Amino acid sequence: MTTLSQIIAGNWKMNLTLSQGLDFVDVLLAALSEKKISRKLLLAPNFTLLAPLAVACRDSVIELAAQNCSDHESGAFTGETSVSMLKDAGAAYVIVGHSERRHIFGESNALLAAKLGAVVGAGLRPIFCVGETLEQRQQGVADEVVTRQLTESLADFSGSRLIVAYEPVWAIGTGETATPEDARLMHAEIRRFLRTRFTWGDEVPILYGGSAKPGNAAELLAQPEVNGLLVGGAALNPESFLEIAGV
Ligand code: 13P
Repeated sequence: MTTLSQIIAGNWKMNLTLSQGLDFVDVLLAALSEKKISRKLLLAPNFTLLAPLAVACRDSVIELAAQNCSDHESGAFTGETSVSMLKDAGAAYVIVGHSERRHIFGESNALLAAKLGAVVGAGLRPIFCVGETLEQRQQGVADEVVTRQLTESLADFSGSRLIVAYEPVWAIGTGETATPEDARLMHAEIRRFLRTRFTWGDEVPILYGGSAKPGNAAELLAQPEVNGLLVGGAALNPESFLEIAGV
C-alpha cells in the first residue's frame, strides 16, 4: 500500500478578514520556522484573501485552496469566480462540493462534475467533498449516498490529482465527531470505490472533516485510510490548527 503524506487543511469558510488572515499566517510561519513538519498544510480562505495570503505564504510550506469555483471559464456570470482567476490569485487547490454548497446553495452532483472538470482543466487540484446527512445515516444508507456522490460526479473525471474529503454533514460544526471507527469504515469504502474506478485510486488522499479538533485529531489521523483532515471551526485559531497538524 502506498503511504500518502498526510494533509491538514483549514477551511475558514466565511470567516476572517485580511488582517486576521495575515496575523494567522504570521503565527504559522513563526511556528514552522522552529519545527519541521512532514504533513502538508493547506489554508482555504475567502477568495478576497487568496492573493495577499499567497504573497505572505510564498516560499513556505503553506499552500492555498479556494473554497469554491464556477464551472464556467468566463463570461456573464455576475458574482462568480473562475478557476483561472483562482489560479491567478495563488490557489493551488479548490474545494468542490462542500456540504454547505450542496445543501445551502443546492449544488448537484452534475454541477460538481462540471466544476471538477474546470478545476482539473486549469491544472489545479480538487478537494472533492462527500458525506451523508444524519437522516441518511440513521436510515442506514450512508455508504450508498457517498458512493452515489462519487459515482455521479467522478464519472468523467480525468487526471489523477484528486483529493477526496469525507465530511459527514451531521458532524460539521456540531461538535459531534464521527468516531474513529465511523471514519475508518467510510474511508475504507471510499478507497474501495476509488481503486475500482481508477488505476491510481490508491494515490488519492482521503481527508476526514467534521468537528476535528486538537483533542481528536491524533486518533482520527491514526486510522487506516485517513490521510488528513479538513478542519473548519478549529482552524480559525492558529494555535489549535498547529496543534492539530502536530507542530
Ligand atoms: P467543522 O470542523 O467546523 O465541523 O467544519 C468542518 C468542515 O466543514 C470543513 O470543511
